[in-house]
Order: sequence, then structure tokens, then C-alpha cells
Amino acid sequence: MEKSLVGCLPADVASVFAKHCVDCHKGQFAPRGLSWEAAKIEAAFDVPSREVPGLKIIDTAAPESSYVLKKVRGETGIKGKRMPPGKALAPETIKVLEDWMLSLKKAP
Ligand code: HEC
Repeated sequence: MEKSLVGCLPADVASVFAKHCVDCHKGQFAPRGLSWEAAKIEAAFDVPSREVPGLKIIDTAAPESSYVLKKVRGETGIKGKRMPPGKALAPETIKVLEDWMLSLKKAP
């Protein structure tokens, strides 16, 4: 893998996932096999969503198209619920994720 998160997952990003996502998205029975534990997030890089396979969970070539952003924003076109279910993230919390994903963009 070209990009490595080892040692470079920003603390504010890790804490958003830890606080709002990891209660469900962890371990062997994580929903859709998707873990948001800090040590596992790299596995979501450039892999197709199981719900909308045309999109990647975290798309490092086109971060704006990342399925996870659509899910936390509750955009049309997602399958299943807005994440986290029943308690949408505050806009400034969504921005932490957006800014981080944009920073992952591969140089052309
Ligand atoms: C209360 C448990 C719960 C929490 C908390 C939760 N999720 Fe989920 N998540 C699910 C379930 C169940 C599904 C599958 C059904 C659905 O999509 O509605 C899912 C599906 C997903 C998918 C789709 C995966 C795919 O392969 O298409 C993404 C992306 C996702 N969640 C991201 C997140 C993020 C990011 C957070 C935190 C901001 C979060 N979830 C918080 C339960 C949860």
C-alpha cells in the first residue's frame, strides 16, 4: 500500500471515529465488514463500498467521492442509513473527516 497511516492518523480524526463509529464498526462482526478502529482504517482505503460498489469507502484518488462522506452527510444515493444511525454528526465534525480525506489525495 502506497499510503501508510501508521503513526500518521491525526488524533482529531481518530477521535471522531472512536467516539461516533467504533461502538458498532469493530471486530469480527463489524457492519458490512467495515472497522473504524484506528489500526484498521487503512483497510477502507480504495476498497469498494458493499452497499454501492461503484464507489470506494475512502477514495484517495477522488476524496470527494468517498462513500463514507456521503454516508455521514446523508446524501441521496446512499443505501441504508445516514451514519451514525439516528444521530447525525455536527457539521464541524463532518469537516474534520472531509479535511483529512482531502489531504490523502494522491499527487497526480
Ligand atoms: C449504531 C451502530 C453504528 C454506528 C454508531 C455507525 N454505524 Fe456505520 N453502519 C452500521 C450498520 C448497521 C450498517 C449497515 C446498514 C446501513 O448502511 O444502514 C453500516 C454501514 C456503514 C457504511 C457502509 C459500508 C459499505 O461497505 O457500504 C459506512 C461507510 C459506515 N457505516 C460508516 C460509518 C461511520 C463513518 C460511522 C461514524 C461516523 C458509523 N458508520 C457509525 C452501524 C453503525
